Amino acid sequence: MMSQDLFERTRALFDLPEGVIYLDGNSLGAMPKAARERVRRELDESWGRELIRAWNTAGWIDMPSRIGDRIGELIGAPSGSVMAADSTSVNLYKALNAALRLAGPRKTILSDSGNFPTDLYIAEGVVATLDRGHALKVVAPEEAADAMDETVAVLMLTEVDYRTGRLHDMAALTAKAKALGIVTIWDLAHSAGALPVDLTGAGADFAVGCGYKYLNGGPGAPAFIYVRPGLQDEVTPVLSGWMGHAAPFEFDLHYRPAPAMHRLRAGTPAVLSMSALEAALTVWDGVEMSAVRARSITLSEAFIRTVEQLCPELELASPRDPERRGSQVSFRYPHGYEVMQALIAEGIIGDFRAPDIVRFGFTPLYLRLAEVEAAAGRLAAIVDQRLWDRAEFRARNKVT
Ligand SMILES: Cc1ncc(COP(=O)(O)O)c(C=O)c1O
Repeated sequence: MMSQDLFERTRALFDLPEGVIYLDGNSLGAMPKAARERVRRELDESWGRELIRAWNTAGWIDMPSRIGDRIGELIGAPSGSVMAADSTSVNLYKALNAALRLAGPRKTILSDSGNFPTDLYIAEGVVATLDRGHALKVVAPEEAADAMDETVAVLMLTEVDYRTGRLHDMAALTAKAKALGIVTIWDLAHSAGALPVDLTGAGADFAVGCGYKYLNGGPGAPAFIYVRPGLQDEVTPVLSGWMGHAAPFEFDLHYRPAPAMHRLRAGTPAVLSMSALEAALTVWDGVEMSAVRARSITLSEAFIRTVEQLCPELELASPRDPERRGSQVSFRYPHGYEVMQALIAEGIIGDFRAPDIVRFGFTPLYLRLAEVEAAAGRLAAIVDQRLWDRAEFRARNKVT
């Protein structure tokens, strides 16, 4: 199928509000119609009619692994290596605890200053609660490769920088880490569903990521965790909850980890959110990630070109080379917050990241080229004509 026809087909699978150009699928993906139908059905038929029986009859109990397998297909992970569960922060906590244990006596967690704050905060929490002399070392993103040596226990990076969209070379960094005996954890929050990811090919040890961004699973959707197949039975779960027990319904007094990835489950899955995510993942049926990537580059290049032609005042904060960028584009502007509010008031939705970044996500599954060009034109006009300079655009919302 020609790329344009393919993406007109996938766009029709989404319920998009009239008059809105949505450039924030990197924060919260748009709603697939199938997700709404599925949640309604889970409420009306499964919960409403089947009640507790639905754990078996509607397959609720297997949702985390079933959904994990579907996500795995999008990130180069084999069946049985991904579990949908909890939030990205919680999964990172599980992965980092397990990774540090596997890393033996080494004490350094290496990360970079482009990482999302929750990743660094979780690492600080793990260091504090383990209280065994671990330390978090944060370097500039371009220094991560050179900062690896035999003292590093774990390399913990986010592949796509949430602010600038800068893309790390996951294969090269993982290969170097492996050669030095460093355990790797990749945060794929801005990668899964945005660009081709090959966890198996890269040889990554752990990965985590969000269900609510490019996977369109809905607000607060379950996240996912990946563990390399050869490592799964070596993982000692830090959250040794009953759902990750070898036999949850035998109600033993002591914990025995379930085989392989099942031990990465902790408590009861959030079934309604899981069902939205599971249905949302059907929009990927018949879609090649390479086609999504090619289209994403076309869209982001057109956006940059139009903005720069019309408004040189906006400074590109993202890498200019599309091969070094994820599926988002950011510009710096001192009144970025107000600019974004002015855009949103016109129905063009992106977001703002402090201190001065206006950020736009490109989601080929439901975004058209004409919309991208129109958004670029309005952004340029708002900056050029200072249309942002109004009191109402200065009031800060809790979520930016
Ligand atoms: C790289 C990255 N990791 C993690 C998160 C969020 O984690 P959680 O879903 O636990 O809030 C985000 C949110 O934007 C993110 O960008």
